[in-house]
Amino acid sequence: VQGALWGGRFAGGPADALAALSKSTHFDWRLAGYDIAGSRAHARVLHTAGLLDDEELAGMLAALDALDADVRSGAYAPAESDEDVHGSLERGLIERAGPALGGKLRAGRSRNDQIATLGRMYLRDHARIIATGVLATVDALVEQAEKHLGVAMPGRTHLQHAQPVLLSHHLLAHAWALLRDVQRLMDWDKRAAVSPYGSGALAGSSLGLDPNAVAAELGFDSAVWNSIDGTASRDVYAEFSWVAAMIGVDLSRISEEIIIWATKEFSFVTLDDAFSTGSSIMPQKKNPDVAELARGKAGRLIGDLTGLLATLKGLPLAYNRDLQEDKEPVFDAADTLEVLLPAVSGMIATLTFNTERMQALAPQGFALATDIAEWLVRQGVPFREAHELSGAAVQLAESRGVELWDLTDEDYAGISGHLTPEVRSVLSTEGSLDSRSAQGGTARSAVEAQLVALKSELDTA
Ligand code: ARG
Repeated sequence: VQGALWGGRFAGGPADALAALSKSTHFDWRLAGYDIAGSRAHARVLHTAGLLDDEELAGMLAALDALDADVRSGAYAPAESDEDVHGSLERGLIERAGPALGGKLRAGRSRNDQIATLGRMYLRDHARIIATGVLATVDALVEQAEKHLGVAMPGRTHLQHAQPVLLSHHLLAHAWALLRDVQRLMDWDKRAAVSPYGSGALAGSSLGLDPNAVAAELGFDSAVWNSIDGTASRDVYAEFSWVAAMIGVDLSRISEEIIIWATKEFSFVTLDDAFSTGSSIMPQKKNPDVAELARGKAGRLIGDLTGLLATLKGLPLAYNRDLQEDKEPVFDAADTLEVLLPAVSGMIATLTFNTERMQALAPQGFALATDIAEWLVRQGVPFREAHELSGAAVQLAESRGVELWDLTDEDYAGISGHLTPEVRSVLSTEGSLDSRSAQGGTARSAVEAQLVALKSELDTA
């Protein structure tokens, strides 16, 4: 078969339908630079093993450099007849080095160990780009948190008013989740930094090639200890995809809040014009499309992960062609996050908060009821009873259509002798916030300590 890597035992070429099905150059060509880097390293171990002489190694490396330059400039691109990136690049190498020399490079390696290695190289580079984008989002959250220190907002559970919190505390909650995602990528990289090159098709090579020399040249920490594992496993891809999906979910949760906050009813935030869109029919519209796309793309990232896991689940060892389906999901995950993260970080960095409204709403909806109960506990009342008494105050206020601080001293005394006028010390947003000063709490002092802790973790990311 003209140009193919495996024609020898076949009487004729593949059916057009098979060739069309089999083809992967339209998505694996982005690995070309990594394939050439792998080829350089492979040429060197062939030389060390005595399978290429000095002159052949020099010729091979020169041909690979020429091919690399042509791939970069676009002068060399996959032909219609090329099945995958590996076959196409071998064709390009032979065109430059001649068949006598170019035909020697394939010794001792297989597309199975090549592709497993190139995928890890690609994902490791893109994990760094993604981590940088996530850190920019964390920075945007931290900057907004620092800018608004002291501003209270309604803290919610079940989307209902729960207890007042600091806006900074809320924003930093998202920052911690994203920081853990970065830490996950860093931890993942330890497992990704192991090279499958040298595993051959599945059983290793008989040619005396040193897998660790290839691994070192390609920036890996070491080579795999098991050639079957090296060629057949894709858990490293799946783990990357899981972290990507988790980042998508974390961005989606921030985005959902921004969408809600930007409604007329909430009016907590105004989106910058540069990060909002209009309507083709309704002239007044200002839409949170960045946040909506983030929410939508989280679904796509989850789909990439579940698609990949479904591909892997029934595969016997070692390589099966199903594994060609491993690339598009992880490439899509990387592409998606790389286009999404700058938009989300920009949207967050340019948000304007309606701090007066947030502050005013913070204690409303009986959000200080827990403070009354905890104040009673500090007076020696068992919490079970304190909860009941505070609940009675809520019921009274609700029946009158007023807030807890509108009840009179007599109202409180009528509920319980424990509810002396001193209870008013906690019937303010400030009193409520200040009292939650232990580590992790929403008091300003605790949030300031939290910022120091977060930044010191950021320094190690
Ligand atoms: N294009 C293939 C892939 O992506 C490369 C490995 C092909 N190996 C094989 N034995 N057909 O998985």
